[in-house]
Amino acid sequence: MTHDEVIPILDFGSQYAQLIARRVREAGVFSELVAPTISVAELKKMAPKGIILSGGPSSVYETGAPKCDPAIFDLGIPVLGICYGMQLGALYLGGKVQPAKAREFGRAQLKINADEPLLKGLPQDTTVWMSHGDQIHDLPPEFVPIATTPTCPFAAARHVAKPFFGVQFHPEVTHTPRGEKVFQNFLYEICKCRGTWSMGNFIEHSIAAIREQVGSGKVICGLSGGVDSSVAAAILHKAIGDQLICIFVDNGLLRKGERELVESTFRDHFRINLQVVDEAKEFLADLKDVKDPQQKRKLIGKRFIEVFEAAASQSAIRNPQSEIEFLAQGTLYPDVIESGHGKAGTAANIKLHHNVGGLPEDLEFKLVEPLRELFKDEVRKVGELLGLPEEIVWRHPFPGPGLAVRVMGDITEERLRVLRDADEIVLEELIAAGLYRKTAQVFAVLLPIGTVGVMGDARSYDSVIAIRAVESTDFMTADWARIPYEVLATMSNRIINEVRGVNRVVYDISSKPPATIEWE
Ligand code: XMP
Repeated sequence: MTHDEVIPILDFGSQYAQLIARRVREAGVFSELVAPTISVAELKKMAPKGIILSGGPSSVYETGAPKCDPAIFDLGIPVLGICYGMQLGALYLGGKVQPAKAREFGRAQLKINADEPLLKGLPQDTTVWMSHGDQIHDLPPEFVPIATTPTCPFAAARHVAKPFFGVQFHPEVTHTPRGEKVFQNFLYEICKCRGTWSMGNFIEHSIAAIREQVGSGKVICGLSGGVDSSVAAAILHKAIGDQLICIFVDNGLLRKGERELVESTFRDHFRINLQVVDEAKEFLADLKDVKDPQQKRKLIGKRFIEVFEAAASQSAIRNPQSEIEFLAQGTLYPDVIESGHGKAGTAANIKLHHNVGGLPEDLEFKLVEPLRELFKDEVRKVGELLGLPEEIVWRHPFPGPGLAVRVMGDITEERLRVLRDADEIVLEELIAAGLYRKTAQVFAVLLPIGTVGVMGDARSYDSVIAIRAVESTDFMTADWARIPYEVLATMSNRIINEVRGVNRVVYDISSKPPATIEWE
């Protein structure tokens, strides 16, 4: 998609680089990460309103430290260097960078000592977040210092003649409370942006782009009921109506009510051409006596591909006027970044979204990826604007292999029933306590052991349910959620009283790493 305003961010390897892009977008301007080796010609082609140089873990004098083309500073386009980006700019423009006396990490008090557009509207004393080893030692003579902290004489500075601005602190993190103002100043006071990036505008542009790409072709979309595939389906439907065919595979490993929610939302409400393929029996037959989690995943993945391909070719037969040429994927921007700073059109490098069940790369479809420029919070906003129900827009992620990796050990209809009933109670109570949006993923797991209990006069020997609840932003790391005891007590009481076959409930208090979120 083309953007009338764009701020490329040269990514020098900062853990905060994605956060910079998000802050710029929140301020209303499209922003994307690019490799620091990007040529000036390529940059010019993007017609950027401004350029940001991110922070990074290296030291500018280190051999192999990432560099950028110094000609960037001669383009006449405003450049904001953050931390390493500031040091690199100062180095190219004649300054000296040295290790600070001590590595500075944490909050610092910033004192603003000049009336400058970059820091306009900030209080004279404000808290900022520092995380650096090096800092600028000698500011080149052509630079104007604009702010200091007790240990950093050049916490913010600018060049007198060139539009280069630098901040040693990190305006992108929430520990810099007025950081968003710094970005607003850079974008609107310095780069003179108009602020055209909004999800409403995105939807409009995306619809035009989808229509142009697809023409009169047909698009097939594997709908899982998760946020990404649901929003992708909704936007595609708005763009191309009946040219979209959605396939939902009921693998018998879904949560209670999941299939019904997808059917009522997409078929009844949106009137999308939704084909529900019920292959539960086949999936469960494959999994008979299989205990090994990786083997479960493999079998489910293989069966999914077969079912999906068969459904796709059947749809083509039912719609003989045009073959299905396109496959929709709910790829998001972080997936794109992960596979290299891929720009639109390099879909080949992008790993296929594993939530759809791991489709093979040799499927003979062209990819349509309407969400590939968006962060998750933007996808949710688009979903809301398109009228998807809250239950879908804010849905916790659910693994492709579904309950198969939550019924530990043997998978049987009866064990799936026990887990489904317990899981439903966990979610009901979580929602009733107002904790659904505050947690990243919450679910029940059925353990492969029996424990002893007393029921009336008799001893019982029944199953154990574990409750797993985590907080996480990226699912790479996670902490166990501190769900109040009273809520856990209600979950446990209800599960033991209402779910036949369970006599014990435990709560998982392990963080990731080293534990994972799923138990298998
Ligand atoms: P772990 O358990 O590795 O999970 O901490 C991280 C995230 O990935 C999900 N997950 C999967 N998703 N297929 C999927 O589509 C899988 O095989 C799979 N295994 C884990 C998990 O639910 C969590 O969100």
